[in-house]
Amino acid sequence: EKGGYDTFMEKEIHEQPQAVGDTLLGRTDEDGRLVLDELRISEEQLKNVDRITIVACGTAAYAGMVAKYAIEHWTRIPVEVALAHEFRYCDPIVSERTLVVSISQSGETMDTLMAVKHARELGALTVSVCNTHGSTIPRESDAVLYTHAGPEIAVASTKAFLAQITACYVLGLYLAQLRGGSYADDAAAVLKDLHEVPDKIAELLGSMDRVQEIARFMADTRSVLFLGRHVGYPIAMEGALKLKELAYIHAEGFAAGELKHGPIALIEPGQPVFIVVPGPDTPHGLHGKVVSNIQEIRARGARTLVIAQEGDTAVEPFADEIIRVPATSPMLAPLLTVVPLQVFALHLSTAKGLDVDQPRNLAKSVTVE
Ligand code: F6R
Repeated sequence: EKGGYDTFMEKEIHEQPQAVGDTLLGRTDEDGRLVLDELRISEEQLKNVDRITIVACGTAAYAGMVAKYAIEHWTRIPVEVALAHEFRYCDPIVSERTLVVSISQSGETMDTLMAVKHARELGALTVSVCNTHGSTIPRESDAVLYTHAGPEIAVASTKAFLAQITACYVLGLYLAQLRGGSYADDAAAVLKDLHEVPDKIAELLGSMDRVQEIARFMADTRSVLFLGRHVGYPIAMEGALKLKELAYIHAEGFAAGELKHGPIALIEPGQPVFIVVPGPDTPHGLHGKVVSNIQEIRARGARTLVIAQEGDTAVEPFADEIIRVPATSPMLAPLLTVVPLQVFALHLSTAKGLDVDQPRNLAKSVTVE
């Protein structure tokens, strides 16, 4: 049942090219335009949306954070991401023109369900991004956009995360397409790149030996930091969460720009730090800014584990290890950069002799508030 892998998590990590591919499948017409009739929300209603709020917990919320950058950039509609348990009790501002997008693998997370019900009571239009057919959250929502990751057995989410990000991209690109003009043209170009991502993930999965080795040598590590920026910021937090869950190691993800506002005090000789580097063509010179961050922490003795695009030579002087990911457009990078972090957590957990699929104290779906 584990398809030749030692654990479900490892199997599910390897199913990620398919999870992304299947989530895209059947959602475009022969002209390459997105078709989302399955939503059963009229174009008029969607065009009326002036604000999007994403509600989710844990890894699904990090998918939401990635989606925020992408959807705002592609549509210019303001997007807010709220942890479902916070949203429910913070007197949220919601109107009939608000689209509340919930993200949940299981479709049973009580916190997320309560947030959706509350949003509906307040008159919002609700869409569920969900991996489980017939589960509660899609039933309680106005519409559903299923992720097609297949059943996820390992407690720690991997392939569902990639599928959630993909579904949110699809939704964002669809909204951009509805806006027409240059929005639609830009969306069409991104969609083309998105279709190439599954092959790139497969290629990346074939080059994870070094990551496995690094993890094996780090079995005694007590703390790992993760830095990212832009869409790499939620990926840094997801990398930290995977490590907490699977290897019971203290881990923290930061926005790289925050470093000098406090966290840099944590850097001491030997401190391992993963850095998710934006591609060199990311707007606003963010690549160069993150390279400077690597230089700063390296100068203070950090052990820098750098995740960088193929061909990015600027990171080389400051990296103790470079983990290469295939190049893609800046917004789509999370589908690649998260993979080595998942593999790292998996192998560190294994090196410590822990139960990868069933970490202590955790349940696959959290059906209590
Ligand atoms: C992390 C993890 C959790 C879930 C969270 C939401 O690996 O699995 O953080 O992402 O509990 O679960 P769903 O997506 O089922 O609502």
